[in-house]
Amino acid sequence: MTKKIKTIVDLRDELTETRKLKKKISLVPTMGNIHEGHLSLIKNAQKQSDYVVVSIFVNPTQFVAGEDFNEYPRTLDSDIELISKLNVNLVFIPDVIELYPMNNKISTEVSIPELESIYCGKHRPGHFRGVATIVSKLFNIVQPDIAIFGEKDYQQLLIIRSLVKNHFLPIEIISLPTVREASGLAMSSRNNYLTESERKKAPMLYECIKTTVNLIINGAKDYEKLEREAKLFLEEAEFKIEYYNICDSETLGPVQGKILVVLAAVWLGKTRLIDNATAHTYD
Ligand code: PAJ
Repeated sequence: MTKKIKTIVDLRDELTETRKLKKKISLVPTMGNIHEGHLSLIKNAQKQSDYVVVSIFVNPTQFVAGEDFNEYPRTLDSDIELISKLNVNLVFIPDVIELYPMNNKISTEVSIPELESIYCGKHRPGHFRGVATIVSKLFNIVQPDIAIFGEKDYQQLLIIRSLVKNHFLPIEIISLPTVREASGLAMSSRNNYLTESERKKAPMLYECIKTTVNLIINGAKDYEKLEREAKLFLEEAEFKIEYYNICDSETLGPVQGKILVVLAAVWLGKTRLIDNATAHTYD
């Protein structure tokens, strides 16, 4: 049976017992509205560890003023049902006050100077600081042996890897490929915001990214031209582009290593979509 725990004290009690049994503990952090993308992380966690903790917490500090914090889909009952069906050991569902104690007048944040002001970070100022801060808190509370994240949020994944390295956290970070709908659209809680006609159009983003990747695989080297062409294609289909860039998969700077990543964020009406794909450079 899946244990539902809301407080840090109770969670620590439970995990102290688990550790005594020498069980390998994994953590899958989520903001809920559980979909197949989340479930693939959870199933993988079950394969790689003896005890799985899933956290559900819509983290206020990673939403920028004016963003969708209030509208973000909160579906706790069905989330817990889905998670329980998989026999996850524990679901951690803290209130905001538990993770951001109000009497704590001086807050502490985790920042990632090189990565938090580019791409998604540039368009959502403060977002990644909020992500790194909450993930750091969750790591400290759960102290998992492994933690699992999706490659869909590519920049977030790099930031979490950097947090673990720079802060010497004894946690193995595992990343898993993006789970997609049959249309190719990356699964996301924000897909709920799409209208019927936007949903039909949304898969064009991944089609475009795949085209860019294929051109690169076939020898195209003028990345700026590829970016321009892709943007034009998406703009003609009435996507509003935040960014569409071909960059180094490790630094997100200009391509230098052997693997590059095509990173994109676009708006379709009121919905912000992000997606990416990696490719070898063959240089
Ligand atoms: P959330 O968007 O709920 O995503 C939770 C985890 O699921 C992240 O690791 C994300 O990359 C992964 N994920 C989302 N969609 C996916 C898909 N289609 N395929 C595979 N994995 C997918 O990301 C967050 O929450 C938050 O920023 C969080 C890390 C929990 C911090 O608040």
